Amino acid sequence: MKEITGHTQVFGVLGSPISHSISPQMHNEAFRQLEMDCVYLAFEVGEDGMKAAVDGLRTLNVRGYNVTMPNKNIMATLCDKLSPAAEIIGAVNTVVNDNGVLTGHTTDGIGYMRAVEDAGHNIIGKKMTLLGAGGASTSIFVQAALDGLSEISVFSRSTSKFNDRARNIIERLKEHSSCKVNLYPLEDESRLRHEISKSAILTNGTSVGMAPDIDDSLITDTSMFHKDLIVSDIIYNPRETQLMNFAKEAGCSTFNGLYMLLYQGAEAFKIWTGQDMPVDIIKAKYFN
Ligand code: ATR
Repeated sequence: MKEITGHTQVFGVLGSPISHSISPQMHNEAFRQLEMDCVYLAFEVGEDGMKAAVDGLRTLNVRGYNVTMPNKNIMATLCDKLSPAAEIIGAVNTVVNDNGVLTGHTTDGIGYMRAVEDAGHNIIGKKMTLLGAGGASTSIFVQAALDGLSEISVFSRSTSKFNDRARNIIERLKEHSSCKVNLYPLEDESRLRHEISKSAILTNGTSVGMAPDIDDSLITDTSMFHKDLIVSDIIYNPRETQLMNFAKEAGCSTFNGLYMLLYQGAEAFKIWTGQDMPVDIIKAKYFN
């Protein structure tokens, strides 16, 4: 980021609540490092304000912005075009404005897949067990299927309001990927045990275990893990969830959700600017 002038390009994030977001620090640091005449700001906007906000940003020719809770689904309806993954999921976290034409992307799943690689793993062609069918989980399983995993077993509570949506997305995904995606009830413990035993990676895509409920874990029976299993969590507060602790005890390699957050931002940055975010510098400064 240079001195703000009449040429400075504006980027931002629309969400509610938004003041805790780390995205402004991440993107502004990248602008500074790359000496780009750009600035990234946080805007407190809920679903009700989205249409007016998006019209305003379009009029002002703002080049790009992120969209976060609770606005990802409504944003998909406000875009002119959608990336294949955003279309399948019906959610957008990154918007790019090309002379008034808004294209929506979803980079959360890409962020997760880059975090897997960053942790030193290659899961392409392998099987995943995924806990939860909410927004974050959906982004993960869609991208993982598009990237070429062989099979994904999603476990969700039978009471979840997300199950019908997940079934629809799994159907739509079949046209784009040969990955076999299954949806099972989380209450079916023997099925969960079996699917984990065949998986290379187990991912918690739910909020269970997030602060302040740091002692919670959807899996407590460590005999469900095997030593070659990678166990990952989308949670990053705490850095080590109870699930990760149990998995470590069982000899599994683990990683948390911090770099999913970093890499979803890096992917958005690339979409807007065509440049690689200097992730090592940003990791050292903000992602410890
Ligand atoms: P996000 O956008 O962070 O993914 P979300 O879309 O609200 O948030 O999804 C939260 C996920 O965590 C859901 O899959 C939710 O399951 P339900 O729909 O059954 O609530 C899951 N989750 C939260 N608390 C849970 C719990 N105690 N047991 C199982 N799943 C839980």
